Amino acid sequence: MSVASHDDVGLTERSLDPDPIRQLRRWLEEAERAGIAFPEAMALATADARGRPSVRHVLMKGLDERGVLFFTNLGSRKGRDLAENPHAAAVFLWRELDRQVSLAGPVEPASREEAETYFRTRPREARLGAWASRQSQPVASREELEAAYRAASERFPGEDVPLPPHWGGFRIVPETFEFWKGREHRLHDRFRYTRGPDGWRLERLYP
Ligand SMILES: Cc1cc2nc3c(=O)[nH]c(=O)nc-3n(C[C@H](O)[C@H](O)[C@H](O)COP(=O)(O)O)c2cc1C
Repeated sequence: MSVASHDDVGLTERSLDPDPIRQLRRWLEEAERAGIAFPEAMALATADARGRPSVRHVLMKGLDERGVLFFTNLGSRKGRDLAENPHAAAVFLWRELDRQVSLAGPVEPASREEAETYFRTRPREARLGAWASRQSQPVASREELEAAYRAASERFPGEDVPLPPHWGGFRIVPETFEFWKGREHRLHDRFRYTRGPDGWRLERLYP
């Protein structure tokens, strides 16, 4: 007999999609339906050439068989880390559902066309902000930041605010995924997908 209560719906090999991308999409949709704000927010870990890690949240802006897409300032700490060491890990947490998904793998730059296409969907103010921000650099004051924003606004007075050269996307190409579901008595369910030559291998892990 299971130690879990009847309302503690766990994970089984059969309930998980054999394709982790489809499984992640399913969980994202369920998080959205559950009313969770920004279910696509993920903590993104990178490391520099010497292996020193750093972590911050970003929004996932694309998910398909090619991997997990996000956009950022290329000169930011994460942008510089990824230029030196193109590997990343990311983790989503949907606390209300007691679910977590982590993934890791090499990172590829997204094409300029993809970055252009996404950048055009952003409001003008956000596009101006991308021109104004030297992300992760020290700034002397709030006033200096706002002056940079005004300068960008004067430089691009209309709707046409182009993609800055220092802004772009990255795609994590996951080699592993882990799906975690909290269960009673800390006997949580964990399943790891590992990419192999013949597709994805799925195995249960001790919690
Ligand atoms: C929920 C949330 C979503 C965010 N999304 C992004 C994003 O998609 N891209 C981005 O560059 N920064 C995003 N940020 C800001 C980053 O967390 C971070 O402060 C910034 O990118 C600089 O990080 P770095 O200096 O480590 O490179 C987000 C912050 C939060 C809290």
